[in-house]
Amino acid sequence: MARGCLAPSGHWSTLIDRRPLRYGPRNHTVGATDKPLVALERSLRMRMEARSLEIPTPRRIRYGGDYNPEQWPEHLWAEDVALMAEAGVNLVTVGVFSWAQLQGGLGAELSADWLDRVLDLLYEVGVGVDLATATASPPPWLVRAHPDILPVSADGVRMSLGGRQHYCPSSSVYRDAAVDLASRIASRYGGHPALELWHIGNEYGSRVNACYCEVSAAAFRKWLRDRYNDDIDELNRAWGTAFWSQRYLDFDEVGPPRTAPSMRNPTHQLDFLRFSDCELRACYLAERDVLRVATPQVPVTTNLMGLFQPTDSWAWAAEMDIVSVDRYPDPADPYAHVQAALVADLTRSLGAGRPWYLMEQAPGAVNWRPTNVPKNRGEFRTWSLQAVARGADAVLQFQWRASAAGAEKFHSGMVPHGGVDTRQWREVVALGADLRNLAPLAGTPISAHVALLVDWESWWALELGSHPAQLRLPELLFELYQPLFDSGTTVDFAHPESDLSQYRLILAPALYMVSGRAATNLIAHVDSGGCALITYFSGIVDPDDHVRLGGYPAPWRDLLGLDVEEFSPLPSNETLPLRGSVAHSRSTGRRWAELVRLRGARPLLEIAAGPLEGQPAATVHRYGRGAAYYLATTPDPATLTALISEITFEAGVPTAPPRPVGVEAVERGGHVVLINHTDAPIDADVGANPRRDLLSGSMKHHSVTLPPRGAVVLAPAENL
Ligand code: GAL
Repeated sequence: MARGCLAPSGHWSTLIDRRPLRYGPRNHTVGATDKPLVALERSLRMRMEARSLEIPTPRRIRYGGDYNPEQWPEHLWAEDVALMAEAGVNLVTVGVFSWAQLQGGLGAELSADWLDRVLDLLYEVGVGVDLATATASPPPWLVRAHPDILPVSADGVRMSLGGRQHYCPSSSVYRDAAVDLASRIASRYGGHPALELWHIGNEYGSRVNACYCEVSAAAFRKWLRDRYNDDIDELNRAWGTAFWSQRYLDFDEVGPPRTAPSMRNPTHQLDFLRFSDCELRACYLAERDVLRVATPQVPVTTNLMGLFQPTDSWAWAAEMDIVSVDRYPDPADPYAHVQAALVADLTRSLGAGRPWYLMEQAPGAVNWRPTNVPKNRGEFRTWSLQAVARGADAVLQFQWRASAAGAEKFHSGMVPHGGVDTRQWREVVALGADLRNLAPLAGTPISAHVALLVDWESWWALELGSHPAQLRLPELLFELYQPLFDSGTTVDFAHPESDLSQYRLILAPALYMVSGRAATNLIAHVDSGGCALITYFSGIVDPDDHVRLGGYPAPWRDLLGLDVEEFSPLPSNETLPLRGSVAHSRSTGRRWAELVRLRGARPLLEIAAGPLEGQPAATVHRYGRGAAYYLATTPDPATLTALISEITFEAGVPTAPPRPVGVEAVERGGHVVLINHTDAPIDADVGANPRRDLLSGSMKHHSVTLPPRGAVVLAPAENL
């Protein structure tokens, strides 16, 4: 799926350390507690999970977090593993930021006796390891020897050492050093029986998503030559350089889109975003490939970040065995649980429905917001259960033990500064017990009949600026997601060019840039009996960010039975009254309006007053065997909910049984999960057939009272 990406430069395979595995092929003996069969079973199961989902019993949900023993005196490690056993921890991520503790010079042997002892200790107590390649934070000695690995910002400032992720993604010095380290780690630990998963880098692009240095500039030029077949006229055409005297005579005249005196060429910026994503992924792939050669049986992951704009998650997920995500909703946000659900559904979809890992969440508060509100009592549990309900097979936290020093010392940990006689620790232990009870859900699938289209390239182009209004895709996605969440309708996310045949309804919010293939894909979906809801500012430009001419949205005018002649975005404090079949007496539209000419579509909502009175705000058009809906504004939440409910009904999306406001309902593998996200008890109907609640072990039927932030997980009726 890595559309438009070039193969990583250099021959990484030549850098692979081919020395024999230190621990041999998984028959290593660890003192008196050797468990080769357990290790074999674990390795086999991981392999099957990653590739075919045929997981033999016993299933289990992984539980644990980032474990950074190098921050602590060794005598504490025994306490760590004892506490892990108490909490039911069975997987920890080790070594994410350990480079400086593992290697003392470029190409030097690992000084990793401490890590040997950590892994052996974890193995002894049956805790599996998600072992990091440790390349996320280059050590000071590397920066000192090669200061040009430090990244440069768009306005020419070279960043300094002292934080993390301070590397230029195009730097061959950084990449070679990272591959060397990954290779040494693979060779030393590839056969260690505790090893379950490789964790490559960390949150690629989260601190530096693009570098504007001369090394990056040269790599960008090479990337452009490849993209445009060495033809500068092709680049000039694609970038529309006839505008503002920007015509290039040679690729050598081109640089990254550094800070400039006025609005920068959008296609230049778009190509640089594509390039920067490819360069970051090339760093990941270089490490991934050495691991795959050294340990083909061990799955790999790197932690994605949900709706994180700089990296195209479709392309990244396609390169992983297990898709994992870091999820940090703000407890101060009343919709945090809905945001969290969205990220869960997105992550599951990125892995084509395979179980995914919640790689990081905070057990309590984070320390990087201006004000760090802790999770409300019970939210650590409910948000974790939600992740499992929506397809996660692992609930891992950042981090095991809250640090005593460093930039994250006020970030919560599973073991807080106050130790074990704390609310936090009690919640950690209780969650471990809950997750043990949820083992039957591990590996089971989730089905959805509705998909939201998201395409990172379109998102990049949408938010480049110099547009009629600044639209933010996450907001638009969320606005459509929320009414579906509220009605208990499970939603997948899909790439616009992917197979949509399993869905009855496709939602396309502000899908600004579409390829010809994506345009036809949606038309074919409706033609063959599906439904689609397309919102304003969709189908506007082609992949070069050139307007598709002839009236908006050019590729879908026939599909929608209308032409949009003019955009009329609204100032943020302005709303327009709406009327129509799904309107209530005070329906309004905000953010956007348009001059729309109907050519067969029927209005469902229209503007009720003002200069745009009578203009359609929502329409429906029968097309082929299906129906195409269009939204020309953002209706108020109640009106949007009514509209979406009508559309899902018309589309034949199976309706979830009604349930009280504040209760989330999801079905996974025949289990029904009900979660009360409020701080008041709520009664919920669970049907007449008695079903076992996996969390409490008791039978439930007719009605249950969900305590504040309480939950039930009802087993399928046949699993009594
Ligand atoms: C993540 C990161 C972790 C830690 C955490 C704190 O973004 O991967 O290393 O910094 O945030 O919330």
